[in-house]
Amino acid sequence: MSEAETYRAIRLERIAPSFREGCEIVKLPRLAPGPGEIRVRNLHCGVNGIFDTQIARDAVDYVKIALPTFTGVEAIGVVEEVGEGVTGFVPGDAAVSVRFTGGYREENTAPESAFVKVPEATREYLALSSTGVSAHVALYHIGALRPGETVAISAAAGGLGHFLVQLAVLRGCRVVAVAGGPEKCAFVKSLGAERVIDYKSEDVAQVLDAEYRDALDVAVDTVSGSIYDAFLANLANHGRLVVGGAASDLEGKPEIVNAPRIAHAIYYKSASVRGFMNGLLTEHWPAAREELFSLYQSGKIAVRFDAPDFVGIEGVFDAVERLLSGRSSGKVVVDLAAPPSSNPE
Ligand SMILES: NC(=O)c1ccc[n+]([C@@H]2O[C@H](COP(=O)([O-])OP(=O)(O)OC[C@H]3O[C@@H](n4cnc5c(N)ncnc54)[C@H](OP(=O)(O)O)[C@@H]3O)[C@@H](O)[C@H]2O)c1
Repeated sequence: MSEAETYRAIRLERIAPSFREGCEIVKLPRLAPGPGEIRVRNLHCGVNGIFDTQIARDAVDYVKIALPTFTGVEAIGVVEEVGEGVTGFVPGDAAVSVRFTGGYREENTAPESAFVKVPEATREYLALSSTGVSAHVALYHIGALRPGETVAISAAAGGLGHFLVQLAVLRGCRVVAVAGGPEKCAFVKSLGAERVIDYKSEDVAQVLDAEYRDALDVAVDTVSGSIYDAFLANLANHGRLVVGGAASDLEGKPEIVNAPRIAHAIYYKSASVRGFMNGLLTEHWPAAREELFSLYQSGKIAVRFDAPDFVGIEGVFDAVERLLSGRSSGKVVVDLAAPPSSNPE
């Protein structure tokens, strides 16, 4: 088998404390597409370091791990071959896939229904189709955000967070955001947030109590711990706290808390706490994509990427660790290959 007939992917071989320890890069034979299938050469993949780490630990409740398993969620690339009966794609089309096991691989041969046709195979359309869609669904569907409301957002400088902030601002909402460190806070402020709390130098609960007491119509939290507590305590009447993650619980927790039951925080306010799991909300994805693409094309939403360039499938491991370090801002991506036009032939 020549090199040209193979591609590489990251496979979880063993349950381990970290993604790097659990995975291997494996070389696989190129698969010609069967009937109804397409073969996509991926150019970029998006990285979800917290999810990947939980997968390596077999700690994602809704994913059953049968070893070995391929990894990664989102990737974007160019269609190179189509199988018999394919109607939605022709070679040269840009295609994105956003389902677990389709992300960390240089190529993907699968049914055409596993892909969505997008205008270009760029990092921007990758981020919009995955993390952008998550932000849209979390805020507009689960959060049921209405124009003019006050919204709190944690991890606001991150991949998900920077979309949440922009989408809330676009709805004419006041945004109070939380992020770690002056650089991230300046970035979030530049996206239009009214107030950015640097939790490394300010107490989130105290700031909210002083400046936004009982004023949060919607709060989207992916961090948990004291930030979740402060958001919950300051919900407005009819407020909605959207729980999309618990990053601070990653290491050996969940934290056990001794506090009054949540009923006491919500019933007097007719407030609610709502779980958000994007994988269960697929019916909302097409409309979310359509609106996000249009906002991007008209320059109303910006897609920001973390500064370091991670290149090649081996770059995924460093990218996962960068996300876990808490130092990234914007979406973390890995460039898997150069676009076809820039290949010297
Ligand atoms: N439920 C869903 O369907 C769904 C979909 C997409 C993403 N998510 C979740 O949303 C969160 C954001 O995802 P993302 O990929 O966009 O990541 P990200 O926000 O770009 O990066 C994670 C950020 O979380 C904050 N953080 C707080 N405690 C942390 C900890 N113990 N370890 C690592 N980071 C910590 C850090 O920012 P600060 O220090 O500035 O707070 C860090 O930069 C993740 O928890 C992810 O699992 C959920």
